[in-house]
Amino acid sequence: MKTDCDLAQQPSFDILAGIHAERRHKETKLIPKKVTHMKVAVFSTKNFEKPFLTEANQLCQHELIFFETTLDEQTAILTKGFTAVSCFVSDNLSAPVLEILAKNGICLVALRSAGFNHVDLPAANKLGITVARVPAYSPFAVAEFAVGLILTLNRKIHRAYNLIREHNFLLTNLLGFDLHGKTVGIIGTGKIGTVFARIMHGFGCNLLAVDPIPSKACVKLGVRYVTLNELCLQADIISLHCPLNKESRHMIEEKMLAHMKTGVMIINTSRGALIDTRAAIQALKAGKIGYLGIDVYEEEEHLFFQDLSNNIIQDDVFTRLQTFPNVIITGHQAFLTNEALSNIATVTLNNITAFECGANDIFTI
Ligand code: NAI
Repeated sequence: MKTDCDLAQQPSFDILAGIHAERRHKETKLIPKKVTHMKVAVFSTKNFEKPFLTEANQLCQHELIFFETTLDEQTAILTKGFTAVSCFVSDNLSAPVLEILAKNGICLVALRSAGFNHVDLPAANKLGITVARVPAYSPFAVAEFAVGLILTLNRKIHRAYNLIREHNFLLTNLLGFDLHGKTVGIIGTGKIGTVFARIMHGFGCNLLAVDPIPSKACVKLGVRYVTLNELCLQADIISLHCPLNKESRHMIEEKMLAHMKTGVMIINTSRGALIDTRAAIQALKAGKIGYLGIDVYEEEEHLFFQDLSNNIIQDDVFTRLQTFPNVIITGHQAFLTNEALSNIATVTLNNITAFECGANDIFTI
């Protein structure tokens, strides 16, 4: 007879064929339990993801309680009576919050994201809380979005859209450049960076990359691995696809910007703090950065994922960025495709079921 665990839907990673998908098992952290179905507090639930989570849960039948609020020191009290929480990038998983969760009996944090820089992992470990994530849900979603930012900035599609709405059919200020033959520097050639490399290869670009672990697929494509300095010196377009950690924080800062070609295009769909935003503003004012496309911002937790259209924005760095005609900012939406949401929901529910069953197919961090 099949158990609930046998029935748990397995994540389909067919879409990731050819790209190294990681699966980390830390069995020592798993607590085998009798299957009772977990009561899960789902924080930062957005309307667009609820149907995907509900559908993925049909096979698992966990008790999901959706909270629109983010998780923080004030809202952590809501976790009383739950055994697991599911969180997004906007949730606060610092040590003080994790301590409240542990006191309330939470043993699992099931992240609905790939990035985990917002989790105090040593604290979680100390408190015996397992943290699981969705390591890959659609590298295509993010890589394609990065290309969208490049095309929009280069061909000024955002400006053309507004001009045509005002019936201004002049082509003044809409001059772009061919991507063909340009040098694109990719920082981080993991799952997303590799898909991005493939797309830019299709445009006929020369590809340079920086990554401590070069990707075989990229090498096969003709990507040349160089130092960060060399990449900055040579690239016409630089796209960031590496994680945020102590080493990579502010990797794009004043000195690195000084190495870059005048008029360079920088694209960041990874994490905001990879770029020193204040240094980027100075480089934009000096004309060093010719184009900046960002889906992430280092202080985004105070802004993104909420409607602030009636508020006075207090972040002067962000509002200064908004004044540049050659800057496009989007609110962390690169992941937002049907395919990605479906995969996020499936893997999150599978992680919860696997934790409950003590099974190996959990993506722990
Ligand atoms: P991945 O783990 O497959 O690849 C990351 C690559 O970066 C690895 O090959 C690693 O060796 C490399 N790397 C690590 N440190 C580096 C450094 N200092 N310099 C250069 N390379 C370095 O991750 P994946 O799935 O490709 O995601 C990349 C990033 O994209 C994530 O860390 C996350 O921050 C971001 N992301 C953004 C989303 C959005 O909606 N805007 C959605 C999903 C991910």
